[in-house]
Amino acid sequence: MRKRIGILTYRGETGFVEPGFLRRLVKEGNGMGAEVFVFGLQDVQLAERRIKGFVPAEKGWKSEWFDWPDIVIDRYRYYPLAKHSRYPPFRKQNWFRYANNRFTNKFNLHQILQEDPLLTRWLPETHAYARSTLVSMLARHRQVYLKPTNGSGGRSILRVEKTAVGYSLHGRTKQQAKSSEMLSSIAKVCERLEAWMQREKNGKEDFFLQQGLQLSLVPGRTVDTRVLVQKDGEGTWRLTGMGIRIGSTRSSTSNLHGGGTAMPAIPFLVHRFGPEEARRIVLECKELVLQTVARIEQHFGQMMEFGFDLGVDVHGRVWIIEINPKPGREIFRQLGEYRRYLQAVRRPLEYALYLLAQDETRKNRSLG
Ligand SMILES: Nc1ncnc2c1ncn2[C@@H]1O[C@H](COP(=O)(O)OP(=O)(O)O)[C@@H](O)[C@H]1O
Ligand SMILES: [Mg+2]
Repeated sequence: MRKRIGILTYRGETGFVEPGFLRRLVKEGNGMGAEVFVFGLQDVQLAERRIKGFVPAEKGWKSEWFDWPDIVIDRYRYYPLAKHSRYPPFRKQNWFRYANNRFTNKFNLHQILQEDPLLTRWLPETHAYARSTLVSMLARHRQVYLKPTNGSGGRSILRVEKTAVGYSLHGRTKQQAKSSEMLSSIAKVCERLEAWMQREKNGKEDFFLQQGLQLSLVPGRTVDTRVLVQKDGEGTWRLTGMGIRIGSTRSSTSNLHGGGTAMPAIPFLVHRFGPEEARRIVLECKELVLQTVARIEQHFGQMMEFGFDLGVDVHGRVWIIEINPKPGREIFRQLGEYRRYLQAVRRPLEYALYLLAQDETRKNRSLG
């Protein structure tokens, strides 16, 4: 029997958020002999147990009714906005066999990882926002980042940096606009940060403070490393690829959405640190990623893939900046690594089919 895989995502008035990727996903899934369709929450008819699914047409998309999927890949990127309010309760209901479990926000995740002594050396100091905390962090770190717990794309992040004459603030608004200013006192910095949180927050969203890492591996730029780790068709974690992102000039973030550019990781690290140190860094990144996903699965159950944003600081020390459960693959396209991009698209489908095969073996065993 042909397996039926549903891809859950947000479908708005103007269509899907990442249409190019979704088209690829359907096409690759079809190539594996599966039936694949994309759907939004409004397309699910629970009573009839059917779904209005979307598949690529010559131009755009066409919709058809599909029977209940055997498995669903959850690609819904949630933000605390009114238009997404139906997602959390829906997702908690487990109406489907999901290939990926639910995850949590950045700050919670940090608290969970922090409990594992194997991981603490890779975690930057992180706290909930409070004036006194900001003051004490600025006494110990040259830079402190203020970040929203549910942010993405570098949005709403503000960096505070101590300078000889005061504090310089650099940020990105929700709309990705750069913002910067100089302030003379810490009291003004606190006021500014609080105004920022008021303006930038979505709903009841919180912000947290994080030790600023020295990521200017290219002078004047924020540089970080993106590692994609995915389960393969045998349920084993694999590092699919790694790339460097270099932020635009005078940007406090490196995100590609914010105008950053991509570079292949190994040549970049060899150029910056020399071959031996680069090798050590790459091995440490791998070790970090595999240990962290093991810890995450202990806590959250089986997961499918993650994009790790890692910081390699100017001393060659490796840090976890963010772990994204619904990562993009665009970096590989930007690097011209087209085969790797395709592999990155295929792996979740292969994993979903693997899970279904496992379900069947289990069922047969219990029958026999
Ligand atoms: N603690 C930090 N120190 C230095 N740079 C940081 C820090 N936190 C974030 N950044 C920069 O900002 C970017 C975006 O931050 P991240 O936490 O990944 O949020 P987002 O979800 O918006 O991508 C990172 O890729 C990095 O370039
Ligand atoms: Mg990020």
